[in-house]
Amino acid sequence: MTQQEFPLNLITALRAATRVTVLTGAGVSAESGIPTFRDKQTGLWEKFGATELATPYAFERDPALVWGWYEWRRGLVLKAQPNAGHRAIATMQTHVPHFTLITQNVDDLHERAGSCDVLHLHGELSRPYCEGCRRPYSHADGILDLPAGGALRQDVATDEVREANRSHASGSPVSGECRSTNSPTGRRIPPPICTVCGAKIRPGVVWFGESLPQVQWNTASDAARHCEVFLCCGTSALVQPAASLTQMALDAGATAVQVNPNPTDLDGSVTFTIKGPSGIILPQIVAETWNIPK
Ligand code: OAD
Repeated sequence: MTQQEFPLNLITALRAATRVTVLTGAGVSAESGIPTFRDKQTGLWEKFGATELATPYAFERDPALVWGWYEWRRGLVLKAQPNAGHRAIATMQTHVPHFTLITQNVDDLHERAGSCDVLHLHGELSRPYCEGCRRPYSHADGILDLPAGGALRQDVATDEVREANRSHASGSPVSGECRSTNSPTGRRIPPPICTVCGAKIRPGVVWFGESLPQVQWNTASDAARHCEVFLCCGTSALVQPAASLTQMALDAGATAVQVNPNPTDLDGSVTFTIKGPSGIILPQIVAETWNIPK
């Protein structure tokens, strides 16, 4: 794609802004090879049922199916690299005094591109935790941050549980793993079991029907209401409450910019829509705004 002509008002607004808030969605990681949810043919929800995989009820009904699917997605992310769009957002942060990055993505590609203090509204694949006692679980080491006395409570964990976690920690499948044709990735993996309370370890993501993390949401909505420029990239803007952030920024008087190759419901309401992939458009916007030589 050749260099786009951006509206002068957009570049001027960004250059003058002391407060910029960016909201990203799955489209920003698409050029890193991570599938989006709703793109035709390639989107995850085109192939898999959201209600079978992304609800608390789904995990209750078939934990191995759900854990195996999230492990498949975690594997994709581990193999992926940040793209030029992630890097442009990280560069933007170095030019703007008050910069907030909000993402709906559960990958860590923003962090690996150099962004800090990323607000993950929908959780993170790399942060599973116990559904019983909510202790964080490390894929490498099992349960983290045992409180004093935690060891005393380990008697609830059975030998079988300890064996399951040892197998997970070493990266090999636990006994009981089975292959099934009705699993979306062909691989069912029973979740590890908490060595402290004996409950299941669950993926560190927010499922449909669950609340967003309160602190992240409060910080995100504050940043939407108090920015001069709000940039919304790679999201279909269909999932609430994240989708409402752009309107919050507009209502508070911000210039709202959308970067997306496809139409969305925001097309009629944002100040500017720039059509194209974020891995191409964002580096061009950053270069033009802060006169960075290409
Ligand atoms: P969607 O899959 O709904 O939307 C992705 C958007 O990215 C679409 O509008 C695409 O047009 C756009 N897109 C595709 N390639 C792009 C590219 N290279 N550059 C820029 N944009 C591109 O994903 P989200 O809006 O992130 O939640 O979905 C929101 C939430 O719905 C997700 O966090 C997830 C999902 O269900 C949960 O799982 C709770």
